[in-house]
Amino acid sequence: MMYQQEASFRDAMRRLAATVTIISTSGQGRRHGITATAVTSLSMDPPSLLVCVNRSGSLHDLLAETDRFCVNLLREEQVALSNVFSGKLAPEERFLHGSWAEDEHGLPYIADAQSSIFCRKQDAIQYGSHSIFIGEVESTLVSEDIRPLLYGNGSYGRCAPLEAAA
Ligand SMILES: Cc1cc2nc3c(=O)[nH]c(=O)nc-3n(C[C@H](O)[C@H](O)[C@H](O)COP(=O)(O)O)c2cc1C
Repeated sequence: MMYQQEASFRDAMRRLAATVTIISTSGQGRRHGITATAVTSLSMDPPSLLVCVNRSGSLHDLLAETDRFCVNLLREEQVALSNVFSGKLAPEERFLHGSWAEDEHGLPYIADAQSSIFCRKQDAIQYGSHSIFIGEVESTLVSEDIRPLLYGNGSYGRCAPLEAAA
């Protein structure tokens, strides 16, 4: 019964398409990042967002301790980077891939992402297997060319306008 509920929920969530991001942070003399789609705009006053991070993943404890994190929204050409940051490589090896830069706080960000959203962590709420981290937005970088990388129905995709009805 329990298993069936989980399977149905997973199946339903395959229909929730989302932009692929890499959440990055640094602390304790190291950098870390993971691919994540559980990222949501939270409030405009103050500008803030939330990210949901698995407590059993290796990013979680570092994120719980650091003051800042960055949400990098990926573009269509960054599928390989998404795969690198999904757990196939050790954290430091992941940063050998992609155009990583550092802000004035030493926070790593992807210089050619669709957008990099720099956040100061304001709260963390534990729920089930995940923690919700709330970040207040301190600054943003954006690319003028808007072509986000999406993930839905178990595959990568792109965002395209619907053709006008005939
Ligand atoms: C498309 C996609 C979306 C993901 N979204 C999330 C997410 O929102 N939160 C999360 O904790 N993990 C998410 N993951 C899984 C993490 O990327 C993965 O568990 C992590 O990189 C494992 O790192 P570790 O081996 O260092 O623990 C996602 C993976 C993929 C491929």
